[in-house]
Amino acid sequence: MIIEDERLSKISEFYDTETDQYDTGYSSLVCKAEDAVVADVLRPFINGKVLDIGAGSGLLCEMLDIKDYVGIELSPKMTHQAKVKFPDKDFMVADMHHLPFATHSFDSAVSLYGPLSYSLDPEVLLEEIKRVVKPGGHIALMPYTLRVGNNLEIGGYSTATEPGIEKIFYTEDMLYKLLSSLEDTHVEGINYFLNTYVSFVQAMHLNSEQSLDMFVDFLRREQTLAGLVPPEYARHMIGVGRKSL
Ligand SMILES: C[S@@+](CC[C@H](N)C(=O)[O-])C[C@H]1O[C@@H](n2cnc3c(N)ncnc32)[C@H](O)[C@@H]1O
Repeated sequence: MIIEDERLSKISEFYDTETDQYDTGYSSLVCKAEDAVVADVLRPFINGKVLDIGAGSGLLCEMLDIKDYVGIELSPKMTHQAKVKFPDKDFMVADMHHLPFATHSFDSAVSLYGPLSYSLDPEVLLEEIKRVVKPGGHIALMPYTLRVGNNLEIGGYSTATEPGIEKIFYTEDMLYKLLSSLEDTHVEGINYFLNTYVSFVQAMHLNSEQSLDMFVDFLRREQTLAGLVPPEYARHMIGVGRKSL
């Protein structure tokens, strides 16, 4: 227990120190294009009262218009930042393995860009998330992929590749296995090539007017790869499933 508490403190302190640069770090056109495509994937599943797990500085509130929202997050500084940015939304400091909510409190639960990878007890974590979600509600989780674990073509700012905190980097099979108690589970990869494309465009000085729309279009077309290339080769992976009735 003490070891786990020390580990949580380490994660919390790390994200406290990252808070000031976090939003700027993830403000590149590539990141914003990824956010738009992740929002496409989530939109059909996210409804009613939504729990955001490892909410960071509140990115989900930027990506989707969610009326009834609660974000939980380990880092007090990230949580403060989220409250400043979205004063009408509900954010609190909590450990995702011990959610301070009654059973069946939420219609859906989302965890964006990595919190799942910080759990060394993902089965316990999933049971806790399932506890607070109503039967029939959707759960969407984004762990870090093996590509991130191998630091391949990540490009730019990333808290995921920080080596000091142990994390689990997922393959498609690992995520399907974790989510196997859910129904209609679907795992897909996001951004296999955009980083490479952007590096190429920059290296060739081809076009200084890269627009967000162009990148979003590139990624939407790339999603046709879903099912052809394993998501662990993508920069991000998202798994969605439904808690049974
Ligand atoms: C890469 S950030 C993602 C933040 C946000 N979801 C986003 O997409 O910008 C990972 C977040 O997970 C949080 N986290 C890690 N372990 C956690 C835990 N046990 N409970 C709650 N949050 C946790 C970290 O503090 C960090 O803010």
